[in-house]
Amino acid sequence: MCGIVGAVAQRDVVDILVEGLRRLEYRGYDSAGVAVVNSSGNLQRLRRLGKVKELADAVAAQPVPGGTGIAHTRWATHGEPSERNAHPHVSGKITVVHNGIIENHGPLRDALKAKGYVFNSDTDTEVIAHLVEEELKTAGSLLAAVQKAVKQFSGAYGTVLMDKTDPSHLVVARSGSPLVIGFGIGENFIASDQLALLPVTRRFMFLEEGDVAEITRHSVTVYDKNGQQVERAITESNASYDAGDKGQYRHFMLKEIYEQPSAINNTLEGRLSSDSVLDETFGNGAAELFQKVKHVQIVACGTSYHSGMVARYWLESLGGISCNVEIASEFRYRKSFVQPNSLLVSISQSGETADTLAALRMAKEAGYIGSLTICNVAGSSLVRESDLAFMTRAGAEIGVASTKAFTTQLVGLAMLTLAIGKYNGLTAAQQQDMVTALKSLPAKLEETLKLASSIETLAEEFADKHHSLFLGRGDQYPIAMEGALKLKEISYIHAEAYAAGELKHGPLALIDADMPIIVVAPNNELLEKLQSNVEEVRARGGILYVFADIDAHFKSDATQRVVNVPHVHPLIAPIIYTIPLQLLSYYVAIIKGTDVDQPRNLAKSVTVE
Ligand code: AGP
Ligand code: GLU
Repeated sequence: MCGIVGAVAQRDVVDILVEGLRRLEYRGYDSAGVAVVNSSGNLQRLRRLGKVKELADAVAAQPVPGGTGIAHTRWATHGEPSERNAHPHVSGKITVVHNGIIENHGPLRDALKAKGYVFNSDTDTEVIAHLVEEELKTAGSLLAAVQKAVKQFSGAYGTVLMDKTDPSHLVVARSGSPLVIGFGIGENFIASDQLALLPVTRRFMFLEEGDVAEITRHSVTVYDKNGQQVERAITESNASYDAGDKGQYRHFMLKEIYEQPSAINNTLEGRLSSDSVLDETFGNGAAELFQKVKHVQIVACGTSYHSGMVARYWLESLGGISCNVEIASEFRYRKSFVQPNSLLVSISQSGETADTLAALRMAKEAGYIGSLTICNVAGSSLVRESDLAFMTRAGAEIGVASTKAFTTQLVGLAMLTLAIGKYNGLTAAQQQDMVTALKSLPAKLEETLKLASSIETLAEEFADKHHSLFLGRGDQYPIAMEGALKLKEISYIHAEAYAAGELKHGPLALIDADMPIIVVAPNNELLEKLQSNVEEVRARGGILYVFADIDAHFKSDATQRVVNVPHVHPLIAPIIYTIPLQLLSYYVAIIKGTDVDQPRNLAKSVTVE
């Protein structure tokens, strides 16, 4: 969920470790810690509750010498956020950091307690430290001890271990939580994400499921889940990201909202001809596979699930095939019927979401003819494990609330609709029309972003509200859901989304002047129906905030505030109407004074289920 950084070097590594944590902090951020061993075997551990800044201040206040170290920023799963629960955890010679959950920590803890081990935290992680310490008594090396220990774990882990009596190496193990090794010159590194290591290296090796590796200053040796020594590819990364660079913006979220025209430009770049999507857009073999596809099953979580819901409308109305969309955490635990010639499509910003990854793995056994991921992170688990990948090219998304990842996913899914639709009755004229619409996006987005100042003013009316309702119809229903998720995520205002036609089946009972109703109203074939739904709310004293096409003829008055959104092609309307809702939640959060980029209780990358 959160961040791991480790280093074996000749130089002092504490600053590299803390900088790495700072770069990963957006993923999980309730506490942080670092442990460093110097060449005389002295271990120094510092842990702090709160943000990495607290740890950085502690490190700045005292020298922490040593060339071998591990560090962690935590998103608590077991045990409250506190200094004693912060990683690294120690048992005798062993120090450990861990991402994920050791699900069988209960019985392991009991067995270790019976052997005399004393637990100093409430975390599941501490069993790793004690179990490896125990195994080390009989195993010949830290590597062998870790290999024996991991066989006893169930759950998910990315873990890094250090033996203070032998600081020449680190041992790392991965199952369900990603780890990447970074290669330096005469020094090597480990992290849960390459972003942490960009200041020190560009050469990376991604570990695979079940791998255990030993890292020294001069060597990296990897063993697979059967204990066989294996070679893993080393790749050169061209990723760029400066965690400190919000540019002119107050928050990463705002920066990322404004990056959407250029992010989408990048997503489109080189992938469209004048009237179709180029075959290579989805990778080798995509055209052969798409010709056979008769059904698409989408799996995703959160915001990515919402983009999948929009895609269902597109694939069925334009792509000419049937489509199901399901939340990955539900899909993975039920027996579902696999339609003939089904393609499994996973959608994920991070490419590491545990439930989405598990759904993909499950589907591999289930008879799908192939898998495609729509993803923003190259080299992530979903990209590596899917047959085909569409990279959204949004650039690093740091704000926990997803913005540009969502709209670039939608662009990818519109292109998927084109790529599959051409084998299922989408005419040349329709394709050309869709391509033209997609190409108009960057300019239309720029135009839509100009609504920011009027939305900022509107946001003031939400400052004292505790509940809100978002309404949309058709492919705008998922946009209403995404708007509600954004508002609750960063402003902590309770927000519900409803398909507007559902109002009279219950939610109308909630309507009063304290419950703002936000409506997305493009000028499409459902407009009249939507207008009737809006009147039903007005008749019951509701206060409306309508984001409407200028031709939709909504008028501002005492109970209805209307913001006119540029008139756009229906295909891209879901992308365009997302923008005002992102801006609304951002400005409401600013008024509420919340931590916009790192809202309470959340983590950017959800690598536990
Ligand atoms: C979005 O604002 C959320 N923070 C969250 O719902 C997110 O979309 C979800 O966790 C899925 O993440 P993924 O796209 O990285 O798989
Ligand atoms: N389960 C561990 C804990 O609660 C690790 C959580 C994390 O991934 O940060 O400490």
